[in-house]
Amino acid sequence: MKIVTTPDPRLRTKCKKVNHIDDEIRQIVDDMIKNSLEWEKKHEFEVSAALAAPQLGYDRRIIIVRDDMDNKENANFVPLLNPEVIKTEGKTLYDFEGCLSVPNYYGKVPRPAKARIKAQTIDGQEVRIKADGFLARTLLHEIDHLNGILFIDHIKGVKNAFFRLNDKGDLVPVDYDKEIANNKDLYPDDED
Ligand code: NI
Repeated sequence: MKIVTTPDPRLRTKCKKVNHIDDEIRQIVDDMIKNSLEWEKKHEFEVSAALAAPQLGYDRRIIIVRDDMDNKENANFVPLLNPEVIKTEGKTLYDFEGCLSVPNYYGKVPRPAKARIKAQTIDGQEVRIKADGFLARTLLHEIDHLNGILFIDHIKGVKNAFFRLNDKGDLVPVDYDKEIANNKDLYPDDED
């Protein structure tokens, strides 16, 4: 298992564009899918919905997104290269997000309700995706990764936005002042 986690600086870099789809790129995609499924096997209550290349230490603009995000039985992922947000629309919605690179914590994160995304498939075809609901949220979360942004950045200082899973698989609130405010794993660049 080699998921990169906070405060690793590789999660904080802007990743490089994929210009040629070659064996190296296909290998990265395979590795991302393999690691997502491995992680999920060890996390009973969680589904690995998506992953971005920097989460495995690859400095490339690649994400993978699960075909069916509610179904652990469906192990198909769609790779997207150089995904870009064309436009976001709709109300700001708040919902839970977790991240393989931010162990232990979940956040209630504000995101626009809808997003239009442009990307390339692994065959080099340009695709445009009109997403809403959890797919829009997931795509925005993963594209953030390619720009060195984590979900915790969107809720920094928000005292009731952090949660964790208890041993029954329920999300329970975390004491912000005690656990988050001065947490150098989450916010390593903060001044004391
Ligand atoms: Ni993430």
